Amino acid sequence: NNTFSTLFVGQNLIKLKEVDSTNNFLKDLVSKSEPLAEGTVIMADNQFAGRGQQESVWQTQAGKNISTSIYLKPSFLPLNKQFYLNIAVSLAVSDALSCFVPEGIKIKWPNDMYYQNKKLGGILIENTLTGNSIKSSVIGIGLNINQSEFSDNINQRATSVIQILQRDVPLMDIMDKIFIFMEKYYLILRAGKYSILQNDYLSRLYNFNILGLYMQNGEIFEGTIKGVEDGGRLTVDTKNGLKVFNFKEIEFTHTK
Ligand code: BTN
Repeated sequence: NNTFSTLFVGQNLIKLKEVDSTNNFLKDLVSKSEPLAEGTVIMADNQFAGRGQQESVWQTQAGKNISTSIYLKPSFLPLNKQFYLNIAVSLAVSDALSCFVPEGIKIKWPNDMYYQNKKLGGILIENTLTGNSIKSSVIGIGLNINQSEFSDNINQRATSVIQILQRDVPLMDIMDKIFIFMEKYYLILRAGKYSILQNDYLSRLYNFNILGLYMQNGEIFEGTIKGVEDGGRLTVDTKNGLKVFNFKEIEFTHTK
Protein backbone atom coordinates (compact mmCIF):
# COMPACT_ATOMS: atom_id res chain seq x y z
CA ASN A 1 0.00 0.00 0.00
CA ASN A 2 2.84 2.37 -0.70
CA THR A 3 4.91 3.43 -3.66
CA PHE A 4 8.46 3.67 -2.37
CA SER A 5 10.94 2.67 -5.01
CA THR A 6 13.04 0.55 -2.69
CA LEU A 7 13.51 -3.19 -2.37
CA PHE A 8 13.12 -3.44 1.38
CA VAL A 9 13.62 -0.21 3.35
CA GLY A 10 10.15 1.23 4.02
CA GLN A 11 8.24 -1.61 2.36
CA ASN A 12 6.68 -2.49 5.70
CA LEU A 13 5.71 0.93 7.05
CA ILE A 14 3.82 1.25 10.34
CA LYS A 15 2.41 4.71 10.97
CA LEU A 16 1.36 5.73 14.46
CA LYS A 17 -0.44 8.81 15.72
CA GLU A 18 1.37 8.88 19.02
CA VAL A 19 3.92 6.73 20.81
CA ASP A 20 6.42 7.15 23.66
CA SER A 21 9.35 6.61 21.32
CA THR A 22 9.50 4.96 17.89
CA ASN A 23 12.76 3.28 18.97
CA ASN A 24 11.01 1.74 21.99
CA PHE A 25 8.07 0.64 19.85
CA LEU A 26 10.31 -0.99 17.24
CA LYS A 27 12.51 -2.71 19.84
CA ASP A 28 9.37 -4.15 21.39
CA LEU A 29 8.12 -5.33 18.03
CA VAL A 30 11.46 -6.98 17.25
CA SER A 31 11.42 -8.90 20.51
CA LYS A 32 7.79 -9.99 20.12
CA SER A 33 7.51 -10.75 16.43
CA GLU A 34 10.84 -12.12 15.26
CA PRO A 35 11.42 -12.63 12.39
CA LEU A 36 10.43 -9.09 11.52
CA ALA A 37 11.08 -8.03 7.93
CA GLU A 38 14.34 -6.16 7.57
CA GLY A 39 13.62 -2.61 6.50
CA THR A 40 10.45 -2.33 8.62
CA VAL A 41 9.83 1.31 9.53
CA ILE A 42 7.92 2.92 12.39
CA MET A 43 6.84 6.51 11.96
CA ALA A 44 4.96 8.59 14.51
CA ASP A 45 3.17 11.93 14.26
CA ASN A 46 4.04 12.53 17.87
CA GLN A 47 6.45 11.17 20.46
CA PHE A 48 5.89 11.99 24.11
CA ALA A 49 9.08 10.38 25.45
CA GLY A 50 11.55 10.65 22.57
CA ARG A 51 15.10 9.76 23.50
CA GLY A 52 18.37 11.27 22.29
CA GLN A 53 22.04 10.44 22.62
CA GLN A 54 23.55 10.02 26.09
CA GLU A 55 20.20 9.56 27.87
CA SER A 56 19.03 12.97 26.71
CA VAL A 57 15.43 13.89 25.93
CA TRP A 58 14.37 14.42 22.32
CA GLN A 59 11.45 16.81 21.95
CA THR A 60 9.43 17.35 18.83
CA GLN A 61 6.32 19.27 17.78
CA ALA A 62 3.37 16.96 17.01
CA GLY A 63 2.61 16.51 13.32
CA LYS A 64 5.39 18.78 12.13
CA ASN A 65 8.57 16.74 12.20
CA ILE A 66 10.01 13.34 11.37
CA SER A 67 10.25 10.80 14.19
CA THR A 68 11.06 7.43 12.71
CA SER A 69 12.88 4.16 13.36
CA ILE A 70 14.20 1.71 10.80
CA TYR A 71 14.93 -1.96 11.43
CA LEU A 72 18.16 -3.36 9.96
CA LYS A 73 20.14 -6.55 10.54
CA PRO A 74 23.76 -5.76 9.71
CA SER A 75 25.12 -9.05 11.09
CA PHE A 76 27.75 -9.02 8.31
CA LEU A 77 29.61 -6.11 9.93
CA PRO A 78 32.92 -7.04 11.57
CA LEU A 79 33.34 -5.70 15.10
CA ASN A 80 36.04 -3.20 14.08
CA LYS A 81 33.81 -1.76 11.35
CA GLN A 82 30.62 -1.19 13.32
CA PHE A 83 31.05 2.58 13.26
CA TYR A 84 30.44 2.36 9.51
CA LEU A 85 26.77 1.64 10.20
CA ASN A 86 26.64 5.05 11.83
CA ILE A 87 28.43 6.50 8.79
CA ALA A 88 26.01 4.86 6.33
CA VAL A 89 22.97 6.15 8.22
CA SER A 90 24.41 9.67 8.54
CA LEU A 91 25.10 9.75 4.80
CA ALA A 92 21.61 8.51 3.96
CA VAL A 93 19.93 11.15 6.11
CA SER A 94 22.18 13.98 4.94
CA ASP A 95 21.72 13.04 1.27
CA ALA A 96 17.95 12.91 1.80
CA LEU A 97 17.94 16.37 3.40
CA SER A 98 20.19 17.69 0.63
CA CYS A 99 17.47 16.88 -1.92
CA PHE A 100 15.45 19.68 -0.31
CA VAL A 101 18.20 21.91 1.09
CA PRO A 102 20.66 21.75 -1.79
CA GLU A 103 23.57 23.38 -0.01
CA GLY A 104 24.93 23.44 3.49
CA ILE A 105 23.76 20.19 5.09
CA LYS A 106 26.60 18.83 7.21
CA ILE A 107 27.17 15.85 9.47
CA LYS A 108 28.51 16.84 12.85
CA TRP A 109 30.54 13.99 14.26
CA PRO A 110 29.40 11.44 15.04
CA ASN A 111 25.91 11.72 13.57
CA ASP A 112 24.12 15.03 14.06
CA MET A 113 22.57 16.80 11.10
CA TYR A 114 23.72 20.39 10.94
CA TYR A 115 22.98 23.47 8.92
CA GLN A 116 25.12 26.57 9.53
CA ASN A 117 26.06 25.86 13.13
CA LYS A 118 22.56 24.75 14.09
CA LYS A 119 21.18 21.30 14.65
CA LEU A 120 18.56 20.06 12.22
CA GLY A 121 18.27 16.55 13.55
CA GLY A 122 19.83 13.60 15.28
CA ILE A 123 20.24 9.86 15.08
CA LEU A 124 20.02 7.26 17.83
CA ILE A 125 21.18 3.77 16.84
CA GLU A 126 20.43 0.97 19.29
CA ASN A 127 21.98 -2.42 18.57
CA THR A 128 21.39 -5.89 19.94
CA LEU A 129 24.51 -8.04 19.80
CA THR A 130 25.10 -11.77 19.61
CA GLY A 131 28.70 -12.26 20.56
CA ASN A 132 30.56 -9.62 18.63
CA SER A 133 28.15 -9.17 15.77
CA ILE A 134 25.09 -6.99 15.49
CA LYS A 135 21.97 -9.15 15.57
CA SER A 136 19.55 -6.31 15.05
CA SER A 137 19.72 -2.58 14.81
CA VAL A 138 17.07 0.03 15.51
CA ILE A 139 17.96 3.21 13.66
CA GLY A 140 16.12 6.17 15.21
CA ILE A 141 15.98 9.37 13.22
CA GLY A 142 14.55 12.67 14.44
CA LEU A 143 14.47 15.64 12.06
CA ASN A 144 13.09 19.15 12.46
CA ILE A 145 11.13 19.76 9.29
CA ASN A 146 8.02 21.96 9.52
CA GLN A 147 8.45 23.31 13.04
CA SER A 148 8.87 27.04 12.61
CA GLU A 149 9.67 28.07 16.18
CA PHE A 150 11.77 26.69 18.99
CA SER A 151 11.74 27.42 22.68
CA ASP A 152 14.14 30.16 23.79
CA ASN A 153 16.61 27.76 25.33
CA ILE A 154 17.29 25.87 22.10
CA ASN A 155 16.51 28.59 19.57
CA GLN A 156 20.20 29.44 19.18
CA ARG A 157 21.17 25.83 18.57
CA ALA A 158 18.28 24.34 16.57
CA THR A 159 16.87 24.90 13.13
CA SER A 160 14.38 23.25 10.76
CA VAL A 161 13.78 22.85 7.04
CA ILE A 162 10.95 25.40 7.13
CA GLN A 163 13.24 27.96 8.77
CA ILE A 164 15.81 27.40 6.04
CA LEU A 165 13.50 27.26 3.00
CA GLN A 166 10.64 29.47 4.19
CA ARG A 167 8.19 26.83 2.98
CA ASP A 168 7.03 23.52 4.30
CA VAL A 169 7.92 20.15 2.83
CA PRO A 170 5.64 17.08 2.96
CA LEU A 171 7.14 14.65 5.46
CA MET A 172 6.56 11.65 3.19
CA ASP A 173 8.62 13.26 0.43
CA ILE A 174 11.57 13.31 2.81
CA MET A 175 10.85 9.80 4.09
CA ASP A 176 10.89 8.53 0.51
CA LYS A 177 14.41 9.94 0.02
CA ILE A 178 15.56 8.58 3.38
CA PHE A 179 14.42 5.09 2.32
CA ILE A 180 16.14 5.31 -1.06
CA PHE A 181 19.44 6.57 0.35
CA MET A 182 19.30 4.26 3.37
CA GLU A 183 19.04 1.30 1.03
CA LYS A 184 21.83 2.65 -1.17
CA TYR A 185 24.33 3.16 1.64
CA TYR A 186 23.31 -0.04 3.38
CA LEU A 187 24.16 -2.01 0.25
CA ILE A 188 27.52 -0.21 -0.02
CA LEU A 189 28.11 -1.14 3.62
CA ARG A 190 27.17 -4.75 2.96
CA ALA A 191 29.57 -4.83 0.03
CA GLY A 192 32.34 -3.78 2.43
CA LYS A 193 33.19 -0.62 0.49
CA TYR A 194 34.43 1.18 3.58
CA SER A 195 36.67 3.68 1.81
CA ILE A 196 33.72 5.00 -0.24
CA LEU A 197 31.75 5.52 2.97
CA GLN A 198 34.74 7.10 4.71
CA ASN A 199 35.35 9.56 1.85
CA ASP A 200 31.70 10.52 1.53
CA TYR A 201 31.45 10.99 5.29
CA LEU A 202 34.52 13.25 5.48
CA SER A 203 33.28 15.31 2.53
CA ARG A 204 30.14 16.16 4.49
CA LEU A 205 31.72 16.45 7.91
CA TYR A 206 31.09 19.68 9.81
CA ASN A 207 34.35 21.58 10.48
CA PHE A 208 36.47 19.04 8.58
CA ASN A 209 39.90 20.54 7.87
CA ILE A 210 38.82 23.87 9.32
CA LEU A 211 40.56 25.48 12.27
CA GLY A 212 38.10 25.61 15.14
CA LEU A 213 37.87 25.93 18.89
CA TYR A 214 37.25 22.83 20.94
CA MET A 215 36.77 22.14 24.58
CA GLN A 216 37.82 19.21 26.72
CA ASN A 217 37.26 19.14 30.47
CA GLY A 218 36.56 22.85 30.48
CA GLU A 219 39.75 23.67 28.64
CA ILE A 220 39.50 25.42 25.28
CA PHE A 221 42.04 24.70 22.55
CA GLU A 222 42.51 25.26 18.84
CA GLY A 223 42.30 22.30 16.54
CA THR A 224 41.52 21.04 13.08
CA ILE A 225 39.50 17.87 12.48
CA LYS A 226 41.60 15.55 10.34
CA GLY A 227 39.54 12.41 10.18
CA VAL A 228 37.65 9.63 11.90
CA GLU A 229 39.20 6.29 12.81
CA ASP A 230 37.52 3.00 11.85
CA GLY A 231 36.37 2.63 15.45
CA GLY A 232 34.72 6.05 15.33
CA ARG A 233 37.19 8.16 17.28
CA LEU A 234 37.70 11.71 16.02
CA THR A 235 41.26 12.77 15.15
CA VAL A 236 42.09 16.42 15.71
CA ASP A 237 45.32 18.20 14.91
CA THR A 238 46.33 20.46 17.80
CA LYS A 239 49.36 22.51 18.87
CA ASN A 240 50.47 19.45 20.83
CA GLY A 241 50.12 17.13 17.85
CA LEU A 242 47.41 14.78 16.66
CA LYS A 243 44.91 13.78 19.33
CA VAL A 244 42.06 11.27 19.28
CA PHE A 245 38.76 11.71 21.06
CA ASN A 246 35.90 9.45 21.98
CA PHE A 247 32.31 10.60 21.82
CA LYS A 248 31.57 13.21 24.51
CA GLU A 249 35.26 13.72 25.31
CA ILE A 250 35.32 16.80 23.16
CA GLU A 251 32.95 19.68 22.57
CA PHE A 252 32.82 21.97 19.60
CA THR A 253 32.72 25.61 20.57
CA HIS A 254 32.92 27.55 17.33
CA THR A 255 34.85 28.05 14.14
CA LYS A 256 37.83 30.36 14.58
C1 BTN B 1 20.19 12.98 19.30
O1 BTN B 1 20.54 13.88 18.54
O2 BTN B 1 20.44 13.02 20.50
C2 BTN B 1 19.44 11.80 18.71
C3 BTN B 1 17.98 12.10 18.55
C4 BTN B 1 17.21 10.90 18.00
C5 BTN B 1 15.72 11.12 18.02
C6 BTN B 1 14.95 10.06 17.30
S1 BTN B 1 13.27 10.50 17.01
C7 BTN B 1 12.90 8.86 16.51
C8 BTN B 1 13.68 7.93 17.43
N1 BTN B 1 12.92 7.63 18.63
C9 BTN B 1 13.52 8.13 19.72
O3 BTN B 1 13.07 8.03 20.88
N2 BTN B 1 14.65 8.76 19.39
C10 BTN B 1 14.91 8.70 17.96
